[in-house]
Amino acid sequence: MKRIGILTGGGDAPGLNAVIRAITYKAVDDGYEVYGFKRGWAGILNLEYQVLHKEDVEDIHRVGGTILGSSRTNVRKVENGFARVKQNMGDLDIYALVAIGGEDTLGVALDLYREGGNVVGVPKTIDNDVNATDYTFGFDTAINRVMECMDWLHTTAEAHHRVMVVEIMGRHAGWMALEGGLAGGAHIILIPEVHFSVDEVCDIIRHRHARGKKYTLVAVAEGAEDPQYMEELKRTAPRDDFGHIQLGGIGRILRKEIEKRTGFETRDVVLGHLQRGGAPSAFDRNIGTRFGLRAVDLINEGKFGYMVALQSSKVVGVPLEEGVGSLKTVPPERYQELQLFFG
Ligand code: F6P
Repeated sequence: MKRIGILTGGGDAPGLNAVIRAITYKAVDDGYEVYGFKRGWAGILNLEYQVLHKEDVEDIHRVGGTILGSSRTNVRKVENGFARVKQNMGDLDIYALVAIGGEDTLGVALDLYREGGNVVGVPKTIDNDVNATDYTFGFDTAINRVMECMDWLHTTAEAHHRVMVVEIMGRHAGWMALEGGLAGGAHIILIPEVHFSVDEVCDIIRHRHARGKKYTLVAVAEGAEDPQYMEELKRTAPRDDFGHIQLGGIGRILRKEIEKRTGFETRDVVLGHLQRGGAPSAFDRNIGTRFGLRAVDLINEGKFGYMVALQSSKVVGVPLEEGVGSLKTVPPERYQELQLFFG
């Protein structure tokens, strides 16, 4: 019986379990045995896995996180990493591997394919920053969470006549701040793709106050930059295995500066990992399921080096090269048109 492996890498995203379930159901039906590797690439490097049967994954699509665990282990940083992965795949007789992850995990998958590994990808991330797919799963749940939090913050901000600065995940891409903030009625949205200045933010807030709106919600992506303040944050931030800086802190800086310059009472809230936890939305459960089914099709078709993608509501296969290498960021014109709602 042919075997396939599954791994989930990078930051977890609601919907991962839906993908694992769908792959397992379809793969078992198609006559494969399914090996689930633990904690991303670490599992295949260290031979930590569990055999997955349909009963192991029944109903898990309703639950967040990943039953396989995740890590940001980078095979490129491990001595003879790709040789070890291929050796272990050979020893376990794994015919093909499904790598479920964002830009980093899929980038490693592409390198493995180039080294001769049979691998297909499934794009995942709450950041929605993988190219060649309209959406990654996890994003919908995350922006609904952002929207809900913004709704809650509206009432308390209005009651106290305060400015609320809400820090939202997104290091290089502002999709979550933009779409979550828009849905949640943020009065100002700041994203990494477009530099802002604290002075302009303060002007908008003063203007709102002058026209009788005594409270303001500011949605700020963790990677949004007023160049004057971000250089220091970036220099001192720790980095992960893929060299990404662990951001955080722009909300606190903005809070202090807004309060100092405008005199309006200001608070900051970091939504942090609340945005990644909990049960997936219906959209993420269902798109995760469709992605998982299509990933097994890609294996059946021998389309290694491909990933599944959502394009105009169809789930298709595209070469991994199209998905990785650069991030899908917010086009400036998309941001500009929404400025109509700011202030
Ligand atoms: O990649 C998803 C993401 O949630 C980013 O938006 C965020 O910057 C990062 O992961 C946080 O990573 P960690 O879970 O390692 O703190």
